[in-house]
Amino acid sequence: MTISRRTFLELSAGAGFIAAAGNWRDLRAETQTRIMATIPSTGEQVPAIGIGTRDYRSNTDAADMQRFRQTLEVFHTSGGRIIDTSPNYGEAETVIGELLRDIGIRDDVFMATKVDREDQQQGIERMNRSFELLGGDQIDLMQVHNLRGTEAELETMKAWKEQGRFRYLGVTSHDPQQYAEMEDVMRRHPLDFIQINYSLANRVAEKSILPLARDRGVAVLVNLPFARGQLFKAVARRPLPDWTADMDAYSWGQVFLKYIVSYSASIIPIPGTTKPHHAEDNMGAAVGRLPDAALRREIETYMAPLL
Ligand SMILES: NC(=O)c1ccc[n+]([C@@H]2O[C@H](COP(=O)([O-])OP(=O)(O)OC[C@H]3O[C@@H](n4cnc5c(N)ncnc54)[C@H](OP(=O)(O)O)[C@@H]3O)[C@@H](O)[C@H]2O)c1
Repeated sequence: MTISRRTFLELSAGAGFIAAAGNWRDLRAETQTRIMATIPSTGEQVPAIGIGTRDYRSNTDAADMQRFRQTLEVFHTSGGRIIDTSPNYGEAETVIGELLRDIGIRDDVFMATKVDREDQQQGIERMNRSFELLGGDQIDLMQVHNLRGTEAELETMKAWKEQGRFRYLGVTSHDPQQYAEMEDVMRRHPLDFIQINYSLANRVAEKSILPLARDRGVAVLVNLPFARGQLFKAVARRPLPDWTADMDAYSWGQVFLKYIVSYSASIIPIPGTTKPHHAEDNMGAAVGRLPDAALRREIETYMAPLL
């Protein structure tokens, strides 16, 4: 999927659609510019918030499927495009593929998935299976999951990118202990993306890997933007401080996401959610103002004693 001017206008129309349904937060979105991120290797613009699908695990429970479907619909109509999944998330690729075809938006999302085999032939079979399950002739982003089998998988991935099967290549980890190895991979291979763990609960990435990504022109997907929910527990029952109005954040989730998005122009959190109202809340962080350097420090100071 390439975000064209046409698509951008559709994104705006999507915000208007929700406004018509009477949602006050998206009444704001209707008049505000959506925040986009830039993929440095091509200059392509993509919406600055994506979605993670680690918990899209059952394709047999009708109630779960209905909830997953509504979540993806709300994500899309709210302007969301980047969907991150993996063959390691149970039935997630099956569920996502089925639902996107059913909703009719398979060609209008930016699909990111992963591969994690040490053996190159097994990796080829696994990636072919991802094509079968997700559908379509192209996967936007293929990532080596947790740096497993990096050299073998990148060889195939580079060849398939040449053939047009993938548009972008990347590597992932949620474990800061793997960042030194990831930095080495970034120096040796022409990556479009890395995917790492970065949030107010874990700022290790600021020390070295995020600056390196900026220097080398690599886009960053951020997993665990809520530290798997730990951040919400830290602020439980606390009202939003006055300064959140200065960054147009109307929920704690939007504070946490806007903190990440304000790090650079090429960083994209992929909050995991299986609930429509959470998808809507999270996409609300892709409109309005972002915190400046002073406000980022204020957020850090507020959160530090709570974590
Ligand atoms: N090594 C890797 O490659 C790697 C590792 C980890 C994760 N990932 C990717 O990154 C994605 C994100 O990580 P994650 O899902 O583990 O953790 P996360 O995004 O930090 O947190 C997800 C949790 O936050 C809740 N949540 C989401 N939006 C919310 C909101 N607006 N308000 C309150 N709660 C909210 C979700 O619950 P509900 O479902 O109830 O909304 C879920 O319990 C994954 O889904 C996966 O795609 C990749």
